[in-house]
This record gives sequence, structure tokens and C-alpha cells, in this order.
Amino acid sequence: MQTTTKEAMLRGVILAGGLGTRLYPLTKVTSKHLLPVGNEPMIFHSVRQLTAVGITDILIVTNPSYVGNFVNVLGSGKDFGCEFTYRVQEEAKGIANALALAEGFAAGERIVVLLGDNIFESSIEQVVSDFHAQPAGARVLLKKVDDPQRYGVATLNGNRIVKIEEKPKHPKSDYAIVGVYFYDSSVFDIIRTIEPSSRGEYEITDVNNVYINRAQLEHSFLKGKWVDAGTFDSLAEAHQILLNRKE
Ligand code: DAU
Repeated sequence: MQTTTKEAMLRGVILAGGLGTRLYPLTKVTSKHLLPVGNEPMIFHSVRQLTAVGITDILIVTNPSYVGNFVNVLGSGKDFGCEFTYRVQEEAKGIANALALAEGFAAGERIVVLLGDNIFESSIEQVVSDFHAQPAGARVLLKKVDDPQRYGVATLNGNRIVKIEEKPKHPKSDYAIVGVYFYDSSVFDIIRTIEPSSRGEYEITDVNNVYINRAQLEHSFLKGKWVDAGTFDSLAEAHQILLNRKE
């Protein structure tokens, strides 16, 4: 892929902390993101999504117990044609809390953030271009799903997202927010303003709602299959998607 100087500055962040309790006992001695999916550890998928669009500066955020395993499996990045930086999230206090650790790494540049348990078929190439074309703010990806209660869910008014609700009992639409987020450098100031939710986590949905209130949240629709591989059923589905994928 051809990248302009501006595009080359986009940095990648893969969030692979958390406890993975929904996958016990598989996650008793390792991270969910190191479990096999297709023929590789799950996190390879996120790394390849980034390197495929020319992103070579990649931060991996993990929990303290498994950081050594990630370094053993991924190394410096030489094998992937990229450079890894590692940071440890001491406690699983939510996605926005994990993302806060990326501030120094981002160094004022724009970032793309992948949740390490999200597996998807298509490339993010077009979305990267769309993000570069917007002057400021953030961009999220939407996917129509049968079970929106499991996700952040977008309320749409015409072609704008007017609100995102985290795991609503009565979703206002079928459009889930995919675990791929694009942010400008103001994301870190926004994270400092949010409070933990009722489940005690700093929610990425609260961060995205601040961008909505500033009229700075754009969106794209994700093409192809998508799985949040956080449960046994979805892990099996992710496995099938990657095994059947035509390169
Ligand atoms: O998969 C998309 C969904 O991901 C979004 O629609 C939701 O809005 C978003 O909140 C998130 O929901 P989940 O309940 O699936 O998030 P989960 O706790 O499974 O965490 C997702 C990833 O983030 C996981 O790969 C590990 C990482 N993570 C999570 C937490 C809670 C961290 O690195 N640190 C954390 O503290």
C-alpha cells in the first residue's frame, strides 16, 4: 500500500490486557490473546491488520501476569516488519484506562486502537484513508449484528451517530461498535475527564460520547465477518473465520 507522509505517522495500539474470565479455565495460565485462532495466537491477527496498512510502530498493552509471554511470542517485531513497544496495565480497569497508557507512545500523533480479541475478515485500509481525510476527531466502525446487547450500540440520526450506549438492555439499533477506534491526540485529555462506570471500568464508550458531543465522531461500516472472541462460541467462530479466509 502507498502511504503519504501523514499516513505513515499513524501509530497502532493493541489492547490485550483484561482478565478473560469468560474463557476460564482456558485463560487460567495464559492470556485470551495468546490462545490459538486459525493457525496462530490470536494477537497475530491484530498485528497483521496493522502491518498490512503500513503501520509499523505498535504498542501492546497487556496485564502484568502475561507480559513475558507476549514478549516471548512477538519479540521485537522483526519477524513482522514492525517495532513493538510493551506496556503493562496493573489492573483491568477498563479499555479507556488501558488506552491511557499509550499517551507517551502516541507522542501527539494520531492512533488506531485495536481490541486484541476482535477478529475480522476485511482490511482497514479504506477506513485509514477516511480517517486521514477528516481534519480532527475520532472515527469508529459499525457492524449490524443479531445480538447488540453484547456491545456498545450506536443510536443513529440520518448519517450521524448521536449516542453510544454500552451493553444496553434495550438497544436503539442493531449497529454494534467494533473494537477498532481511530483517535486524534485529544483522546488522552478526554480520558482524564471520564469517571468509572457502574461496573467500575473506564469505558471507551464514554470517551466516544465526548467526541459525539463535540460533533467530532465519524463512522464507517465494517465489511465482512467480525467476531469479538471473548466467549467460547465466538472463539470457535473466530477460528472458523480465519481458517476459511482466502488470502
Ligand atoms: O468487541 C467490541 C466491544 O468491545 C465494544 O462494542 C464495546 O463497546 C467495548 O466496551 C468492548 O466490550 P467487551 O465487553 O467485549 O470488552 P472486553 O472487556 O472483552 O475487552 C475487550 C478488549 O480490551 C480485550 O481484548 C482486552 C482489552 N482490555 C479490556 C479491559 C477491560 C484491556 O486491555 N484492559 C481492560 O481493563
